[in-house]
Amino acid sequence: MSVRHDRSHSVDRRVRVQGKPVDSYPALPPEAERGSVRRITVVGEGILSRPCQEVTDFGSPELSALIDDMFLTMHVADGAGLAANQIGVDLRLFVYDCPDDYGIRHVGHIINPILDLPDPGSRRLVDEFEGCLSVPGATMAVLRTDRAVVRGLDKGGNSLAIEGTGYFARCLQHESDHLFGHTYLDRLSKRDRKDALRQMADHREDVFARRAVKAAHLGR
Ligand code: NI
Repeated sequence: MSVRHDRSHSVDRRVRVQGKPVDSYPALPPEAERGSVRRITVVGEGILSRPCQEVTDFGSPELSALIDDMFLTMHVADGAGLAANQIGVDLRLFVYDCPDDYGIRHVGHIINPILDLPDPGSRRLVDEFEGCLSVPGATMAVLRTDRAVVRGLDKGGNSLAIEGTGYFARCLQHESDHLFGHTYLDRLSKRDRKDALRQMADHREDVFARRAVKAAHLGR
């Protein structure tokens, strides 16, 4: 998911890494420092419309390296979340570096996540704008619940539950959708989908140019 530009950057430094509070975390996380930039897939490519495979091999250097690459690729693209199939890898995991509505920054990865939404009776839906790194240059309002939990595993195979509110809850739902082979375009009316694709056609080259500049700036 892409970062939201409509709110000022919070001065609140609170951070949660893998769901646990920490005093601070570098703007460019250590995972990203270790990673390589990978090409981000674009809507229309088959891998984005197929459900991803469960991860079965934990604690491997390959899995750590994949997470590092996903972190750097997300940062170079100014993303708030990135699913593995967005770098062409058919596995159920995503990474995130995303603010919530209380100024808390959430950073981490989750593997084989199961999305747990509030009961229909107690859920509050919000219709706010979101974008996707695989739909470069477009943003549209999408209806999402304002709370979400994902339960899954970390790269060592330890169980993990990540809770989100506001924009971070939106991110958790958006990334979970990717792993089922869906983008947010699938949640739009035909007319809004056309609008989003038109925005993408108009702006994608600018977005690609910005990513190239940021990658060069980071020396990648
Ligand atoms: Ni996305």
